[in-house]
Amino acid sequence: IKIAVFISGRGSNLEAILDSINREEIKGEVALVISDRKDAKGLERSKERSIPSVYIGKSNYSDNESRVDKILEVLELKEIDLIVLAGYMSIVDTSIVRKYKNKIINIHPSLIPSFSGKGYYGSFVHKAVLDYGVKITGATVHFVDEDTDTGPVIIQEAVKVFDEDTVDSLSKRVLGIEHEILPKAIKLFAENKLVIEGRIVKRRD
Ligand code: GRF
Repeated sequence: IKIAVFISGRGSNLEAILDSINREEIKGEVALVISDRKDAKGLERSKERSIPSVYIGKSNYSDNESRVDKILEVLELKEIDLIVLAGYMSIVDTSIVRKYKNKIINIHPSLIPSFSGKGYYGSFVHKAVLDYGVKITGATVHFVDEDTDTGPVIIQEAVKVFDEDTVDSLSKRVLGIEHEILPKAIKLFAENKLVIEGRIVKRRD
């Protein structure tokens, strides 16, 4: 399958996907990387790995409509089968979510529905986890629907929260889990092993 990865930052989840493809775990290729941040480190890395990579953001496509049109244009051009949001900080326009229904997956650094939804992104999630005092957190891969972090859950993995944890130590431990479960979810999708019944995702054996 042909995968498009959307990033905003360093792209460590993108790297994890590329490494998994290189280990021939995922039968697919990253045919496109789109970043909404011109200076995203991940954009540099993907160019180094000669992946077609493009910045599509407010400074080169000022209004939302032109941004959406450009994104749809490159997705079509590259015949994308699966969109992966990997540390992507922009909301995906509903026209894209509708066109790629159940073909967009997202990685979120908590056990959804806890610490998820508007405002819960990046390191803010881990700060909220520590401030609340929960003892277990984790990461979730889910299908993207028209709301934020509310689509059907594909895979979750838990992580213990230690008394001495800081945002930095916790985010590193959760990121390690993200790098495991995101490639796993993509592999299952590529092998057509995910069945969606309403909001429940089941594994075709
Ligand atoms: C990380 O905080 C991760 O939890 C979330 O996006 C952030 C950046 O990830 N998914 P990446 O290193 O850019 O993949």
